[in-house]
Amino acid sequence: LAVGGGANVEAESSAGALVRSTARLPQPFTVPLPIPPVLRPAGGGGADDRYEITQRAAEVEILPGLRTQVWGYNGIFPGPTIVSRSGRQTVVRHRNELPEPVVVHLHGGRTPAEHDGYPTDLIDPGGSFDYVYPLDQAAATLWYHDHRMQFTGPQVYKGLAGFHLVQDAQEDALPLPKGERDVPLMIVDRAFAEDGSMIYPDVHSDYISGVLGDVVLVNGAPWPLMEVDAARYRFRLLNASNARRYRLALDPAPPSGPAFVQVGSDLGLLSAPLPHDELQIASAERFDVIVDFSQYPVGQEVTMVNRLGDGGSANVMRFKVARRAADDSSIPARLVEVRPLSPSDAVVERTFTFQRGSVQHEGMPMWTVNGQAFTPDTIAADPALGTVERWRLHALNVYHPIHIHLAPFQVLEPSPYATGWKDTVDLASGDQVEVLLRFEGYRGKYVFHCHNLEHEDMMMMANFQVR
Ligand code: C2O
Ligand code: CU
Repeated sequence: LAVGGGANVEAESSAGALVRSTARLPQPFTVPLPIPPVLRPAGGGGADDRYEITQRAAEVEILPGLRTQVWGYNGIFPGPTIVSRSGRQTVVRHRNELPEPVVVHLHGGRTPAEHDGYPTDLIDPGGSFDYVYPLDQAAATLWYHDHRMQFTGPQVYKGLAGFHLVQDAQEDALPLPKGERDVPLMIVDRAFAEDGSMIYPDVHSDYISGVLGDVVLVNGAPWPLMEVDAARYRFRLLNASNARRYRLALDPAPPSGPAFVQVGSDLGLLSAPLPHDELQIASAERFDVIVDFSQYPVGQEVTMVNRLGDGGSANVMRFKVARRAADDSSIPARLVEVRPLSPSDAVVERTFTFQRGSVQHEGMPMWTVNGQAFTPDTIAADPALGTVERWRLHALNVYHPIHIHLAPFQVLEPSPYATGWKDTVDLASGDQVEVLLRFEGYRGKYVFHCHNLEHEDMMMMANFQVR
C-alpha cells in the first residue's frame, strides 16, 4: 500500500497547465498581508445566527496599480470570514447579483442535503437562498465556495471562496495563540493579463487538466509580507487553489524546533501536536499549525516557500520578525480527544478509482470515478445512516485530492500528513489510500469528487445516498 508523501514536481506539473501572467507583477514581499474581515450577523438575536452575503462582481486592486474584476462574496476576495459556535445554527442568505447561476457549498460542514450546495441546486441571477447550517460538529477551519456543476473551476478562480470558522469550548480552553495571533491564510495561484484581469483558459476546448497560475496570492495579495511579533502564531492554512499543490517550508528553517507544529487537520484539532519541517497541502486541505517566531532574532525575514514550485510559485509569503513581545500561549502535549476508528467498525467496503476515462464529451476524454462521468442521477454508494464504511480510493494518471461531503473520515496508516478527522485526502498517481468514514447526521444525496476543480468540472464526481 503506497500512501501519500510520494508526490514529486513532475506529478504536479502533469496535473495542470501553467498559465503565464503578462501583467506587470510586483516585487515579492512588498504588499502587506490582508486579513479577511469577520462578517457581522445581520439583525437580531433569536435561536439562529443570521448572515447575509451578496455575490457580486467588483473591481479590486490585487496587483499594485491595476484593477482586477473579481466575483466576490460581498464583492471581496477572499469573502468575509464567518465565525460560528459549534451547535449554534447559522443561516446564511446568499443573494446572487452575478450574471451566472451559483451554488454555495460549506466545505467540511455536516449539513442537511438540501443545504449542502448540491451542484445542480442553483441560485439563478437575481435570486437568493437561505442556507441552514446546524454546525453540530467540533471546532474546525471550514470554508465556503462555489460548486456549480461544470463551472466550479472558473467561478472559484474569479474569487468565490471564504473562510467559515467553527469554535467550541474545548478549543477555547486550550492555551493556543488567540486573537491577532490566530490567522487564516488562504493560498491560491492565479495568472493576470496586462490589464490586470485574471486569465482562466478555456478548459473545455483546450482540455487542460488543471489551471496553474504563476502568481501566489495569500488572502488575495501577491506574495504578501506580514510583520510578526517574536512569538507563537496559529496559522489556519487553506489551499484554495484550483489545481496546485504546495510543499510548504520556512526559509531559513528555525534554528532549533520544527518549522510547523500541526495542531489541527481539515475537520478539527488533533489529539496531540505533530511536528513537520515541510507540509504538503493539496487543493481544499487545511492544516492548522503553530509557528514559533521567538526562535528567530528580531529583524529576521522568514519566507514561506513552496518546494514543489518554480518561478512565481516557489514563493508564498514572507514574515518579518519585527519586535520582542510577551507570549502566554503554549502547545499542550494533549489537545482534544479524537476517537480512532478501527477497521473492524466498518460494515461495508467499497473501492473507487479516479482516472481519465474513455468517456468522451465533445471529443474530450472526461475524468471519471469507476469509469463513470458524473450525472446527478446515478448513485455510486448507499451507506446507512449511523454506520462506518471502509473506502479504498485509487488514483491514476495524475494526482487527485479526493473530497467526500458530509462524512468525516480517518485515513488508515501509513500516512504522514493525513491524521485526525479529514474531509479531503491527497493521492499521488498510483496511490491507494484507505479511509474509514462515519456517516452521521443526515440522510440524502451528497457528492464526492476530485478537488482539482478542473477534474471536478470534467466530471470526476459521483453521488452517495445516505439511507
Ligand atoms: Cu470544497 Cu465538493 O467541495
Ligand atoms: Cu483529479
